[in-house]
Amino acid sequence: MDLRDYFIKAKEEKKAIGHFNFSTADQLRAFVEVAQELDLPVMVATSEGESEFVGYNQAAALVKSWQDQTGHPVFLNADHHKSWDTVKQAIDAGFDTVLIDGSKLPLEENIELTKKTVEYGRSKNPNMMIEGELGYLRGSSEIQDKIEISPDDFTKPEEAKEFVEKTGVDRLALAFGNVHGITTNQEMHLDLDLLSSIVEVVPTAYLVLHGGSGLLDEEVTEAIKRGITNVHVNTELRIAYHSALVEEFKKEPNQTTPYKFLRPSYEATKDMIRKKLKLFTNQ
Ligand code: G3H
Ligand code: ZN
Repeated sequence: MDLRDYFIKAKEEKKAIGHFNFSTADQLRAFVEVAQELDLPVMVATSEGESEFVGYNQAAALVKSWQDQTGHPVFLNADHHKSWDTVKQAIDAGFDTVLIDGSKLPLEENIELTKKTVEYGRSKNPNMMIEGELGYLRGSSEIQDKIEISPDDFTKPEEAKEFVEKTGVDRLALAFGNVHGITTNQEMHLDLDLLSSIVEVVPTAYLVLHGGSGLLDEEVTEAIKRGITNVHVNTELRIAYHSALVEEFKKEPNQTTPYKFLRPSYEATKDMIRKKLKLFTNQ
């Protein structure tokens, strides 16, 4: 089974595939081990910044080593790649799938860049899944005070239909009340009726919920019931990793061995992945 088959299955079962960002080898290991433990496919990813830090070829080689060693369905995505140069670099490095994020561009330019990516990706692997993005998703994967939310930024169903038809993307990242990061002084809510309207007009696309951190579990569950098949989480993983590390250094300020002081962060990451994968698959 390839990634597309797992999406077909997720859609049938009304479940979502978890998508998690990494920038260290121990985070990736935690993702793969928990996915194995729960017998679930998993998408792992590096954004442009994370790819730059890890190295494009190195990210691809690390994931390939887990795929080869475990035979488990682990798929590497280039998350929010915003330019032709970076998305091409990811495809050339052997990423399994990419998100070309032209959401800040005017619609026509977004369509053009996304279509070019679909054609290039499929020339390398005819079954490669490509994700596009429509709507203005605010925030970044960190702790923020408040984020301005405006329905004007949300994905418009008629544009989603045109975008999917003209580009041929497989997955579509949506903005419907979700943001990147968590907000300490604001409760986030998803516009679930808007999601349902989008599901109706793009029945063939796999819809992606970005900004999976800081949302209410029941809204995430409802979004999955209504047609979300992929949920991205980054900030909550970063916070879990960081908090465990801060605690560890409080306890052991003189510990200088990375594989010792990183262990609690690796364990905290596993706990978070377990919680999220169970939520996305109704367990
Ligand atoms: O693409 C990455 C995700 O959308 C991460 O969002 O940092 O809010 O979990 P998050
Ligand atoms: Zn995202």
